[in-house]
Amino acid sequence: MNLILLGAPGAGKGTQARRLQDAHGLVQLSTGDMLRAAVAAGSEVGQKAKAIMDAGQLVSDDIMIAMIADRIVQPDCKNGFILDGFPRTTAQAEALDGMLAEKGLKLDHVIEMKVDEEELVERVKGRYSCAKCGAGYHDRFQQPKVDGVCDSCGGTEFKRRADDNEETVRARLVAYREQTAPILPYYRGKGVLTSVDGMAEIDEVTRQIEAVIR
Ligand code: AP5
Ligand code: MG
Repeated sequence: MNLILLGAPGAGKGTQARRLQDAHGLVQLSTGDMLRAAVAAGSEVGQKAKAIMDAGQLVSDDIMIAMIADRIVQPDCKNGFILDGFPRTTAQAEALDGMLAEKGLKLDHVIEMKVDEEELVERVKGRYSCAKCGAGYHDRFQQPKVDGVCDSCGGTEFKRRADDNEETVRARLVAYREQTAPILPYYRGKGVLTSVDGMAEIDEVTRQIEAVIR
């Protein structure tokens, strides 16, 4: 099964993708995570991407398309993948169709997660994650069961993203509205798009997504 989770910054794509990955043996392909790894490694792509990401803008289609084209042919994607953060432009959506057709793969569902903009800003500002395993948390909405200890791996160090401040998140929302939202009609036209209520609690959003893919 191959899925796309589509939604604005903070909509819950990463949160839900990690759950689906564990529940269904799919691989989460987060282009944001791949770019942050490239920045941390100081690679050529990372050096190009850093300033763009810090400004809340989109990295070029060429770089992103090449990144996903390399990734979906890896053996771990054999059972299927969840695209989290890709495609983000019409050019990326069209390129993805080309890649899938070439490999005889199909897209099963595109799931749009709808959340009000002010809620998105609150979610992004309060987000942090485990420095060791990457599990996601939130100052108000998703705290570890034991204060300061990761539920998943017991780690005690946490980190915040460089682009998770109010100014950058506002710019990311503009990029979503102007460059990413226009791909919704593209998938609606193909009959693969379903919207879920991303304002609901995390478990309820999971239930809604499970109902779509079942
Ligand atoms: P990326 O890493 O993809 O960031 P994003 O799209 O801005 O999305 P986020 O990761 O911020 O949000 P999310 O939907 O994953 O929410 P989460 O589950 O964490 O991209 C970063 C940058 O990389 C881009 O700005 C761009 O520069 C570049 N980039 C990446 N892909 C690209 C591409 N294809 N083309 C060009 N450039 C690209 O949830 C957020 C918080 O809310 C968490 O704390 C969570 O605990 C909490 N939460 C989640 N769900 C709920 C809920 N239902 N109720 C309450 N709280 C919730
Ligand atoms: Mg994410």
